[in-house]
Amino acid sequence: MKTIVANWKMNGSLGLLHQALNAWQMKDSPNIVVLCLPSVFLPAAHNLLHQPNFFMGGQDCHTNLQGAFTGDTSAQHLHDAGCRYVLVGHSERRQYHHESNALVKAKAQAALTAGLTPIICIGESLEQKEQGLTLSVLKEQIEHSVPDNKASDFYVAYEPIWAIGTGLVAALEDIQQVHAFLKKELGARIKLLYGGSVTADNYASILDLENVDGILVGGASLKADDFGKMVQYS
Ligand code: PGA
Repeated sequence: MKTIVANWKMNGSLGLLHQALNAWQMKDSPNIVVLCLPSVFLPAAHNLLHQPNFFMGGQDCHTNLQGAFTGDTSAQHLHDAGCRYVLVGHSERRQYHHESNALVKAKAQAALTAGLTPIICIGESLEQKEQGLTLSVLKEQIEHSVPDNKASDFYVAYEPIWAIGTGLVAALEDIQQVHAFLKKELGARIKLLYGGSVTADNYASILDLENVDGILVGGASLKADDFGKMVQYS
């Protein structure tokens, strides 16, 4: 059983939500499916979900569970709205909102306190990859953005920044090497996802790799047919 995560980012529509959720739940899926949707769509999604292995996730949360933080999203509220998961530390948050490893760690801890499973995103830039720094960058990111309590339930998503939304997917050998490294560093209990230009053409070969517990899918999760195939992976 794999974990198949959709990250709609600030995309999609209520129309697509209805169409996609109906299509994806027509057949039983052998996998855990997590839909990280725009927050305003969560109540509608909650009403449409009926398969027991389908869950909702937030795309980010605040470090505080409540307070005077206009425009932010609380992990507690995501939980109230029916979410079981939340992405933290996505590279778009790290880049556009200047989120540090320490902030990401605090968000992951808030998620755990609220009863959510955080999916902590890490990944190297193209420059860092070209300088041969991938593993050291990832080591630093997990040291500083992953909660100390390894007994907690959480996921780590390896998303090379240069592979996100670019159509450039990491080589299978590289994914394999990085995931073996991360499993060793984090322990077998922590589930590892790969993300970055996962498509209907390459998802199966990525999911077949050792130490790949699932995928985090952006663009292709907005294509109902393509993501529908991934949901059915076995
Ligand atoms: P992508 O995005 O699949 O469009 O590359 C992945 C992500 O950002 O999580």
